[in-house]
Amino acid sequence: MGKITQCLGALAVAIAVVASVPAGAQQTQGDPASTQAQRQETQPLNNAPVWRDVRSGTPGVTTVQGVETGVLVQSGGETWRQIREPIAFWGGLLVAVSVLGLALVHLVLGPLGPGGAPSGRLIRRFSAADRHAHWLMAICWVVLAITGLILSLGKTVLLPVLGYPVFAWVASMAKTLHNFTGPILVVAVPWLFVRFIRDNGIGIEDLKWLLKLPGLYKGHFYPSHRFNAGEKVQFWIALVLISTVLTVTGLILVFPNIGQGRATMQISSTIHMIAAYLSIAISLLHIYLGTIGVTGAFSGMRYGYVDEAWAKHHHELWYQDVAAGKARESFAQPGEGPPEEAGQPGKMRPA
Ligand code: HEM
Repeated sequence: MGKITQCLGALAVAIAVVASVPAGAQQTQGDPASTQAQRQETQPLNNAPVWRDVRSGTPGVTTVQGVETGVLVQSGGETWRQIREPIAFWGGLLVAVSVLGLALVHLVLGPLGPGGAPSGRLIRRFSAADRHAHWLMAICWVVLAITGLILSLGKTVLLPVLGYPVFAWVASMAKTLHNFTGPILVVAVPWLFVRFIRDNGIGIEDLKWLLKLPGLYKGHFYPSHRFNAGEKVQFWIALVLISTVLTVTGLILVFPNIGQGRATMQISSTIHMIAAYLSIAISLLHIYLGTIGVTGAFSGMRYGYVDEAWAKHHHELWYQDVAAGKARESFAQPGEGPPEEAGQPGKMRPA
């Protein structure tokens, strides 16, 4: 204990000396270094003058070159730590409520149907490039969401269950995976944007679709073009807005030596956390609808084809364009379609 007190005393005096160097402005209350040294003698570990100096953020003098190298302890770090805790709490709650809410919707209302018996005629809905762009983004996103949640909430949720030895390994794996996967979004976000921007224009039909949303679960689909207003929310909010914010703030955090100071990193970290929790909540809904929530949607993105009945039911205006030969997408040729083992309804008849 005596040794620790001595060490802290030495640290406090060292801080006092560093902090006092540019002190032209601090001379009003006497020599800060000696005030601090004196306080350290009389009240060790309760050296208010030292910590007042630390919090002032006034840089000291050092020969080390770089951003803020003269600032030994940056007071904003404590503010950042205090802000992080409620964000992690409310963000974690948002994710938990989203998962439980979707589970409840699924149990009570079940999946949205394919819209009648499959006709057996397939439409090629997504090209290979569409699907590759989408799955690159989706795979990165899933890795980032899981590892991000481990980094943000793991200490509270996983540590008590796993114990220190296992959690240390899990957390370090999560950090490495997160740091290496994040920068891939620099390619994945613009690629998906370029593939789908053409069919994500917003019009009055989208507003009407949103207003008719409650009818969806009674089986009345309001006609939409290739993508409905719900999907456009995923495109504009989750992809364009939030994923861009996450990518930019993530790069600021993962490459700390590009000239940014600690305050920039603290602000980036805070924005990154808020954006991440929002993205997880919105994308959970998208993933639910893209897998078990809408029958037939997943195989559309997996193999590229949807049945004519599905298209008519879910995207009637797009279906009419396809039937009239006005859309870029078209009916599949005989022999075209998902592989035999996919076994999904409405598979194209062999040529
Ligand atoms: C496991 C994760 C995911 C699954 C299973 C999934 C599933 C799907 C499916 C099935 C579709 C096609 C829907 C249709 O035919 O209308 C789709 C479309 C789309 N997905 Fe995902 N998705 C995932 C993650 C993501 C993520 C993370 C993003 C972006 C942040 C994203 C952005 C999009 C976009 C932009 C579209 C096209 C709809 C539009 O442009 O409005 N997806 N997804």
